[in-house]
Amino acid sequence: MENIYLPQVAVIQDIIDETYDAKTFTLSFEDKAYNEKFSYKSGQFVEASLFGVGEAPFGFSSNPNHKGTFDITVRVVGRVTEAMHRLKVGDTMGIRAPLGNSFPLEESKGFDILIVAGGIGLPPLKSLIEPMLDARDDYGEFTILYGARTPKDRIHTKELEAWSQRKDVTIMQTVDQADDNWDEHVGVVTTLFENVKIDSKTTVAFTCGPPIMIRFVIQDLLTMGFPEDRIISTLERYMKCGVGKCGHCAIGHKYVCVDGPVFSYKQMKRLPEK
Ligand SMILES: Cc1cc2nc3c(=O)[nH]c(=O)nc-3n(C[C@H](O)[C@H](O)[C@H](O)COP(=O)(O)OP(=O)(O)OC[C@H]3O[C@@H](n4cnc5c(N)ncnc54)[C@H](O)[C@@H]3O)c2cc1C
Ligand code: FES
Repeated sequence: MENIYLPQVAVIQDIIDETYDAKTFTLSFEDKAYNEKFSYKSGQFVEASLFGVGEAPFGFSSNPNHKGTFDITVRVVGRVTEAMHRLKVGDTMGIRAPLGNSFPLEESKGFDILIVAGGIGLPPLKSLIEPMLDARDDYGEFTILYGARTPKDRIHTKELEAWSQRKDVTIMQTVDQADDNWDEHVGVVTTLFENVKIDSKTTVAFTCGPPIMIRFVIQDLLTMGFPEDRIISTLERYMKCGVGKCGHCAIGHKYVCVDGPVFSYKQMKRLPEK
């Protein structure tokens, strides 16, 4: 990024309706030279702005190996996200990116991989799963556990289906409340642990989702014997600048926007409780 405060104009190339309240926007920068140079890593995020409305952070949900466009997946909660959901293909938004640190993709090579995602926590993990599957031989057993409130709350259903067709990926899904068409597991995501074989000695676990889910997942992973530095998660804080200047995202002496959003449990444990 040449100027960390200056949004670049990005054009919406495609919009996917993921659920009744979440959409994936595929974007590319209007400035072709900037677009060509642009790259990001799994786990990093953007500050997306709508002129006259406001700015908000979103994780990349696309595969960083695919150049030319990038995706963000946005759930409606308030002012900025509501305005984003009214946008159409061809409309523009401001983007400051890439921001924050990234998932330890290289460091996880040679390990088994366990992904535990809840609800809107899947999009940033999709940006990790896809490059890992591109280099599938670099990793051992690959297990994805995904939980959502109801079948209609599941994001990236097309990708979930594609991953479930692979023989080299174990994937299990669960919902808190089933509907008539749901024939998979029912219960919170941690209840899936009983149904999969995980060796904590050889596995790196990545988890992302609502804070309460992350808390219970980490508790169970620790009980299973995972070392604290092989449990990786993301923290969400209110953010403004996204670049370590305003202090809005501070937890103790750490700024989530630059020291995170990706932290190991070993690092998280040292932060003051918030
Ligand atoms: C690093 C990072 C990555 C994120 N990635 C995604 C993503 O991939 N997809 C996605 O849909 N959302 C993501 N979020 C959350 C997203 O930034 C907020 O939903 C967004 O800022 C809400 O803006 P708004 O103007 O629509 O809502 P507002 O009108 O500002 O708020 C609406 C409601 O949401 C609550 N809220 C807003 N921001 C946060 C927050 N950061 N933490 C907890 N509660 C909040 C408010 O208290 C309020 O109740 C991420 C947040 C961070 C910090
Ligand atoms: S959002 Fe400003 S310091 Fe992190």
